[in-house]
Amino acid sequence: MQLQKNISLKPYNTFGIDVSANYFSSFSNADELAELLSFDPSLSVLTLGGGSNILFTKNFDGLVLKNEVKGIEEVTEDEDYVYVRAGAGENWHSFVLHCLQRNWAGVENLSLIPGNVGASPMQNIGAYGVEIKEAFFELEAFNIREKKVYTFSSNDCEFGYRESVFKQKYKNEFIILSVTYRLRKTPVFNTSYGAIEQELERMQVKELSIQAISRAVINIRSSKLPDPAKIGNAGSFFKNPSISKKQFDALKEKFPGIIGYENESGNVKLAAGWLIEQSGWKGYRKGDAGCHEKQALVLVNFGNASGREIYDLSEEILQNVKNKFGVELEREVNVV
Ligand code: FAD
Ligand code: EPU
Repeated sequence: MQLQKNISLKPYNTFGIDVSANYFSSFSNADELAELLSFDPSLSVLTLGGGSNILFTKNFDGLVLKNEVKGIEEVTEDEDYVYVRAGAGENWHSFVLHCLQRNWAGVENLSLIPGNVGASPMQNIGAYGVEIKEAFFELEAFNIREKKVYTFSSNDCEFGYRESVFKQKYKNEFIILSVTYRLRKTPVFNTSYGAIEQELERMQVKELSIQAISRAVINIRSSKLPDPAKIGNAGSFFKNPSISKKQFDALKEKFPGIIGYENESGNVKLAAGWLIEQSGWKGYRKGDAGCHEKQALVLVNFGNASGREIYDLSEEILQNVKNKFGVELEREVNVV
């Protein structure tokens, strides 16, 4: 733990945006965190994990705290589940591998999502038919103002599609220190997402296992999502929007190819990537800001784009999709 001044945040965000923070420090436990927060209580505070879901549009006037809380431990078990606590600063995919090695099931569909454990409940990470709320048990979070640690159950987190209390209601109020997951001893496979079945077939998997599902997910992801080590991005820039069945049917008349999935509430979740592609943005580039050539939902930084340029591009796309389809996209990435 060492407080640094005027630090570039470029290495700390996967978009590779070059902004600075007045103060920066990492921390590895609650005591260090309390000490750092007492340095100047008037400072704005921003917690960073892997920086893979954030877009900086300006320098950060305050204190950036990089979460380095480590450790993975088996807390307890019952007949069906093992309860595993992981430090918020553990890398997410390393945690998934840790579970796969021990045959603990529930997170295999979430393989290769960038970032850290601490951010997994923040937006209830999801991929290939699974959301983290299904394997979540509880978390510990430090209240910045009260300097007190609270435990949040799944209900307390109010998980939704790419949402939790930490993203909106309690924004910047808590710092997640650890997350406890409830993992199955006997797997319940989820291959409902079409692409997984196809990939398992292509891989000629004879016996289904969580390891095979993980490999299939890794193959699919690697084939279309840009690697942030090579090209700056933060995954899907927008959420997939939900509309009523009535609105969907009307859109389908006009745009027969439109992609949507009916959910339990009777609404239809549209593939935002399709809307953006059909609006002509896929593969678009202006300066160093662009829209990925294989996945239109992913905005990219080809090198030296500013956060403002990426944001402005997202605004153009949003307006364009709204004009063409009458559907308003919502940003998934945290804009700072
Ligand atoms: P950061 O970007 O560091 O932080 C994200 C937000 O959480 C910020 O607002 C930050 O202040 C806050 N935060 C971070 N850590 C803490 C903490 N300990 N306590 C309190 N607040 C905190 N996401 C998906 O859901 N599904 C996907 O399939 C997916 N695919 C992706 C693919 C690529 C190529 C990329 C680049 C991103 C993808 N993402 C995906 C988005 C991202 O990986 C996840 O949202 C991830 O959980 C972010 O973790 P992070 O540690 O990098 O968070
Ligand atoms: N599509 C297009 N054009 C595109 C992109 C997608 O037509 O440019 C179509 C695809 O052909 C497919 C449908 O849209 O029929 C869905 O595409 P895909 O399977 O790639 O998933 P997505 O809806 O674009 C979501 C998540 C991803 C997650 C995948 C897999 C959101 C906002 N995004 O993407 O999460 O990995 O499903 O489950 O829900 C993230 O959150 O950062 C992220 C990458």
